[in-house]
Amino acid sequence: MGKGYYISKHLATAAMVLAAIALVTIIALSVVYNREKSKNAAKFTNATTSPVPPTPKTSNEPWDKYRLPDTLSPEYYNVTLWPRLVKNVNGMYIFTGISGVMFTCVKKTDLILIHSNKLNLTLFKGHHAKLTGQSGVTAPAIKTTWFQTEKQYLVIQLEGKLKPGKSYWLYTEFTGELADDLEGFYRSEYMEDGEKKIIAITQMQATYARKAFPCFDEPGMKAVFHITLIHDLETTALSNKTENVIVDETAVTRTIFGPTKKMSTYLVAFVVSDFKYISAKDKKGVRIWARKKAIEDGQGDYALKITQPILEFFEKYYNTSYPLSKSDQIALPDFNSGAMENWGLVTYRETALLYDPRTSANGNKQRIATVVSHELAHMWFGNLVTVKWWNDLWLNEGFASYVEYLGADYAEPTWNTKDQTILYDLQRAFAVDSLTSSHPLSRKKEEVNTPSEISEMFSTISYSKGAAVLKMLSEFLTEPVFAKGLGVSLTAVDQTPGVKLPYSVHEIMNRWILQMGFPVITIDTRTGNVSQKHFLLDYEWFVPIKWMKKHQVQDQLWLLQKSALHKPMKVSKDEWVLANLHVSGYFRVNYDLGNWERLLSQLESDHQVIPVVNRAQILDDAFNLARASIINITLALRTTKYLLHEREYIPWEAALRNLNYFFQLFDRSEVYGAMQAYLKKQVKPLFEYFGIISSNWTTVASGHTDQFTQIIALSLACSTGVEGCRELTRSWFKKWMQNPHNNTIHPNLRSTVYCDAIAAGGTEEWNFGWQMFQKATVAAEAVKLRSALACTKVPWLLNRYLEYTMNPEKIRKQDATSTIGYIASNIIGQPLAWDFVRANWDYFFKLYGTGSFTFSRLISDVTYRFCTPFELSQLKRFQKDNAETGFGSGTQALQQAIEKTTAKIKWLAENKEPVLQWFLSESP
Ligand code: BES
Ligand code: ZN
Repeated sequence: MGKGYYISKHLATAAMVLAAIALVTIIALSVVYNREKSKNAAKFTNATTSPVPPTPKTSNEPWDKYRLPDTLSPEYYNVTLWPRLVKNVNGMYIFTGISGVMFTCVKKTDLILIHSNKLNLTLFKGHHAKLTGQSGVTAPAIKTTWFQTEKQYLVIQLEGKLKPGKSYWLYTEFTGELADDLEGFYRSEYMEDGEKKIIAITQMQATYARKAFPCFDEPGMKAVFHITLIHDLETTALSNKTENVIVDETAVTRTIFGPTKKMSTYLVAFVVSDFKYISAKDKKGVRIWARKKAIEDGQGDYALKITQPILEFFEKYYNTSYPLSKSDQIALPDFNSGAMENWGLVTYRETALLYDPRTSANGNKQRIATVVSHELAHMWFGNLVTVKWWNDLWLNEGFASYVEYLGADYAEPTWNTKDQTILYDLQRAFAVDSLTSSHPLSRKKEEVNTPSEISEMFSTISYSKGAAVLKMLSEFLTEPVFAKGLGVSLTAVDQTPGVKLPYSVHEIMNRWILQMGFPVITIDTRTGNVSQKHFLLDYEWFVPIKWMKKHQVQDQLWLLQKSALHKPMKVSKDEWVLANLHVSGYFRVNYDLGNWERLLSQLESDHQVIPVVNRAQILDDAFNLARASIINITLALRTTKYLLHEREYIPWEAALRNLNYFFQLFDRSEVYGAMQAYLKKQVKPLFEYFGIISSNWTTVASGHTDQFTQIIALSLACSTGVEGCRELTRSWFKKWMQNPHNNTIHPNLRSTVYCDAIAAGGTEEWNFGWQMFQKATVAAEAVKLRSALACTKVPWLLNRYLEYTMNPEKIRKQDATSTIGYIASNIIGQPLAWDFVRANWDYFFKLYGTGSFTFSRLISDVTYRFCTPFELSQLKRFQKDNAETGFGSGTQALQQAIEKTTAKIKWLAENKEPVLQWFLSESP
């Protein structure tokens, strides 16, 4: 069995054991693959510098280590919690709890370490816990108990030793604050019928279960949980399992839940609320919960409709039945991440679960399908089979991020979601994996210790590179073999008839998992020479290259060395080669100039010969090769010329992202005007096309992704000033302002229209938007307004809006960082947001520092536009000034920002002039 992997001893089925082993084998050799590891050693340490002072060498006490010792193993917990949904005499919201844990002693010890954070523990004879032995064993007396607050331990030192093989019962009573901090057991507030409602909810991942009750809070420390909640008569309590008993006592209800399966602490969840649910008879055990108004309004219907098919899909895919007897999904008004895969009680941000056909866009609907699919994928992968420690998180999140598209595709087969992975995984991953501050997917367990370091594991690398690399594996094995391999063993597939691999699965995968970055494949069609190179480092991968020659798909090629001659790739002057067919591989491709030219003319004469995802990838590769100065920038710019004929979403989206990068580099310089003129010319046919098929913008396109393209057409046409566009959007908004109760703007187009109108308008438009935001009863609508409010060009409005992000009455805490991000993406808002974040650094650090992964987003958002030496010096100064406070889970993000800014400065110096000249020459 692979080192570093934990597999529950009580797996439901043998198949899942094998599935786990299969994925384990992918990285099993990681431990012995020292060559690449040592190459990266310097980078690793650099990237994970922790703000917490290193433990002094002299202290070797167990409580000074972040990892629990292997002396004790929990069996089950009995936890009773009572959240108070009204303020106490001190004006605080609190919860009280009692908890017992039965654990077995594995190694002789006189010390109990158990996680406990911010809990106020009751004293029993001067100690914070009681200890008793089980089945006739006498427990040693407690000598002393104390808190190691930095490591978040309750330390219990004993007079004598615990005996291996014997079990003990540790009992605690405690109170905690039911704060609005989005961590552990916390409260959420919302208004209903003019009345303020309070609910109590949880978010345990990654290190917050210890904030709800004392526990052995590591993913490998699985146990059975018996949970009881005490709550007001008119409220409902939910947890991972179905309730066994509900007793109405004199003033409260006691809900006792059945024992869970053996599971990790981070997957525990409970909710006390007055929410309502919907279910359907044929959908066994599936319920969708939300605010009463939202349920009555039908906002849960879509989630209910897709949940059952998605569960069925994964049952088939994993060849294992859904492991639990019920599946609750609940939408919460305050939630830090998008969603959380608590076993049997999945929690969501409202926008990730609730859909209102009258006001939500089709993009909102797609988001729901993919998020639900992602979280349900975890019900098997992640929850049933769990990584032992957070260093291997990429497997968990990368896998779910890959299969979420398969599940969503099953529920919505006409949406083409699978193709979109190249935008949302591959290209996103490339963007950070091309930096020297990147890191390999696999991390040593010793490198991940503090809560901030754990939080940093929830990164684009883990999610998106993980997904892209697993997708590549699935593509070169073929999807049926990959899925089957999950049920047997991926090493066994080496022997599957029809699968010919040059090396074993783990030998191939190790290169992708243990080395950071990705290869650029260069194909010289004059000679047929194929070679690979990393942007910066001396690495080598085993690269599966699917490819085509003009009109003909060819056999897959494996590039196993730095460079090899592959005669079939030598082509004549009227042919071309296209590699990474269907973008199944995690690499970029470059060609000799002749082949580039021939690809460009193919695009311009008949682009449909080239698969749609490859059209997008040609663009993205070209722009990024140019940013790395591997090819000329004018070559990259020329890949956008064919867009005059392009009507598909994925290439346009890829183009837009690369052009946006240009916008933010150039919108403060003279290049801007010429660039606008060129883009206006390029988007005009698309705008006119959609004008026709939407009967002059009164309807929307019928195809799902066509609707996305329609949005691009409108927003790019308006931002580049295509005649008639702004008139349209502004008249729609005006009409709404005149009749606020009747918003006739199509939901798909609202984001664009709101932003455009608020940008063009002044205080009146802004105030109207703000009012509508406050009144919005559908979360997706509120987000559209919240982001549009950041579009104003009026500095004082932007500054006031920034202030609002520190006031939870105005902007919910869950939305603070993204709101600042929206403001920072506005050319006028950027410097204001940067000043604001710097000035309030301590506040944000306290609010988001240790845990939240939104914190790294905050840093990357406010520095996204940086491209001048002055901005770089500000960044470095900021890093220096706050070295003492540190950057917590934003440490990597800050390093990436410095590296990106440095690269942009250098690139701009060399490329600004040719870019200007090119746009001038191409402008009408
Ligand atoms: N397990 C995560 C949620 C999470 C993220 C908890 C970070 C703690 C820290 C969940 O499965 C997840 O990945 N959620 C995503 C949405 C998903 C569709 C990619 C999220 O919250 O953004
Ligand atoms: Zn996930």
